Amino acid sequence: MEKLWDKGYDINEEIARFTVGRDRELDLYLARHDVLGSMAHITMLESIGLLTRDELDALLAELRSIYRDAEEGRFEIEEGIEDVHSQVELLLTRRLGDVGKKIHSGRSRNDQVLVDLKLWTREQLRLVAEDVRGLFDELQQQSEHYKHVLMPGYTHLQVAMPSSFGLWFGAYAESLVDDLVMLQAAYRITNRNPLGSAAGYGSSFPLNRQMTTDLLGFDSMDYNVVYAQMGRGKTERNVSFALAGIAGTLSKLAFDACLFNSQNFGFVRLPKECTTGSSIMPHKKNPDVFELTRAKCNKLQALPQQITLIMNNLPSGYFRDLQILKEVFLPAFQELHDCLSMATYIISRMEVNEDILSDTRYDLMFSVEEVNRLAAEGMPFRDAYKKVGMDIEAGRFQPRKEVHHTHEGSIGHLCTEQIRALMQQVWDSFDFQRAIDAEQELLTNPKHQTS
Ligand code: ARG
Repeated sequence: MEKLWDKGYDINEEIARFTVGRDRELDLYLARHDVLGSMAHITMLESIGLLTRDELDALLAELRSIYRDAEEGRFEIEEGIEDVHSQVELLLTRRLGDVGKKIHSGRSRNDQVLVDLKLWTREQLRLVAEDVRGLFDELQQQSEHYKHVLMPGYTHLQVAMPSSFGLWFGAYAESLVDDLVMLQAAYRITNRNPLGSAAGYGSSFPLNRQMTTDLLGFDSMDYNVVYAQMGRGKTERNVSFALAGIAGTLSKLAFDACLFNSQNFGFVRLPKECTTGSSIMPHKKNPDVFELTRAKCNKLQALPQQITLIMNNLPSGYFRDLQILKEVFLPAFQELHDCLSMATYIISRMEVNEDILSDTRYDLMFSVEEVNRLAAEGMPFRDAYKKVGMDIEAGRFQPRKEVHHTHEGSIGHLCTEQIRALMQQVWDSFDFQRAIDAEQELLTNPKHQTS
């Protein structure tokens, strides 16, 4: 195996295989962002006299072409090359000769992988936020569409009080607002530049870290170089808590949907094309999509624990342990994306049973309505409670199947607009465009001429 750190002696091949692990496959996730990080780094190196203008121009052109290859799925890590960082340096050296070997001044793979992960995660968080917004919109639309359709509410899975599809769909929409608040915190922590921390202790070159921060469109840098290195693992853990929050909302929604779709409830109907059949029972239309969503989202909720355990009790400074985080962290985003887009699709096509309450087994959910009616007429609440309780026991209870819930957040006053405003407020405080613009600028119109 060809190594950046070759010092003229042979490395045991088994040791090489073990230490490289799954990097050759997982680092492909980071390829585009590794290139962007390098573009910013060398632009800065030229500004402090460590590269000439011509060298910089040649390097940037090649990096841009590697970026395009990565974008179009043509980038690969060759047999015998250990990671994305080595592969990019190898390509530059192969194409440009010695100048390719100059790009690593003032940098270590430790801050390189850090910045790759920050840039990649920042992009992924934007995609997650967009997915969440999409599901939120569908849930709110369904909530408004079915706001007059009543359903039983349960406590202890026992019929409890009147609820509505307006409330049910709307509850999950509001839950996503809070999940997005957590995602935004994760985004802010992610959107800081660790580049320049090198191996974790900075460099004796007069690096201009503000310049790479600006070029990459980060909100700020992770200033302290020791802390910047601590961001490896800490960022992943914080982000994974945010992903787990969304997954928690989704798995609960998925369980409700499975339950309500069962014949014994019959509250919702999943679109036919979203169900799966049985190999033996010809009548089956199973809600496998929601079952898989539930399982995947439960698994995603284990991610913070997995990350915590992998990095637990590591002192400050880089350790190879951190490499293993990529195995659990990187694929999690696609899984969550799949679950979010499946849920969005099905929710938007879900039909509800508008006639649930004609079934007398739900009659008792109106007991509190009756107690409240008597109390409003002047009977003390406790006496009214007792009267209705005795009527129920004696089989005399006749429900009036109408509800008058008017306060905020209740059946008759869903506050859909207020919840939408909350979502908008969170949404508006993300600044995705800044990151997009900076990356675009770096790729199409490198600013080094102004330095
Ligand atoms: N593959 C490594 C990782 O993910 C890159 C950094 C290697 N640094 C080192 N000092 N061995 O952590």
